[in-house]
Amino acid sequence: MPTIRLYRPADFDALYDVCVRTGDNGGDATGLYRDPRILPDIFTGPYLVLRPDLAFVLADDADRAVGYIIGAADTAAFVADFRRDWLPTVAARYPEGSGTGWDAERIEQLHHPEWMWHEELADYPAHLHIDLLPEAQGKGAGRALMGTYLAALRARGVRRVHLGMSAANTNAKAFYDRLGFHELYRSPNGTGLTLGRDTD
Ligand SMILES: CC(C)(COP(=O)(O)OP(=O)(O)OC[C@H]1O[C@@H](n2cnc3c(N)ncnc32)[C@H](O)[C@@H]1OP(=O)(O)O)[C@@H](O)C(=O)NCCC(=O)NCCS
Repeated sequence: MPTIRLYRPADFDALYDVCVRTGDNGGDATGLYRDPRILPDIFTGPYLVLRPDLAFVLADDADRAVGYIIGAADTAAFVADFRRDWLPTVAARYPEGSGTGWDAERIEQLHHPEWMWHEELADYPAHLHIDLLPEAQGKGAGRALMGTYLAALRARGVRRVHLGMSAANTNAKAFYDRLGFHELYRSPNGTGLTLGRDTD
């Protein structure tokens, strides 16, 4: 039976792999970017390093990490920490202004983490990312990870949480709908959704 436990530094590479293999609207993003590490260097690494106390891992019977839920209780503070403590550790790998197409967009996101936060989210201060390898999906682990994460937020006195997702990821949207998330915002071109819910 897979188990949920806190992140350990030994999980780092396995969780980078989970991010890449689920980073194309839930499918495998290997080959999508010139350097596939750009995805976990934005969406996984900073949480493991800056917020390890809110990083929960789904481990298989051999204790191999096959999924995660990660995030921050205070997104505004996380953005500041990202810029000050995380960005300098990876910036040289992806020079600002380099790349074309999708690579350029991600590199821009990495160098300007302020996109994660705007004042309209003040009532939903926490955020999260959840990803499971294909073999771990559809068995209730996502619901269980979410329960663990929401309980950890409640224990910190955080009342609401948000997440960002691509509208094209219809499987994830069905999952979040089922778990009681509602739409907060939609990007002007309709491709990005921000969802939220209470932590109760
Ligand atoms: C999306 C994801 C986190 C869901 O986790 P999961 O373990 O597969 O989902 P669960 O088995 O815990 O499902 C929980 C509930 O959601 C429902 N659900 C999950 N996926 C669904 C789908 N595609 N369509 C309809 N309902 C779905 C389940 O039926 C279940 O309902 P129930 O508990 O009331 O019976 C997981 O599939 C995943 O990591 N996908 C790839 C990465 C990804 O897209 N991450 C999100 C990026 S925004």
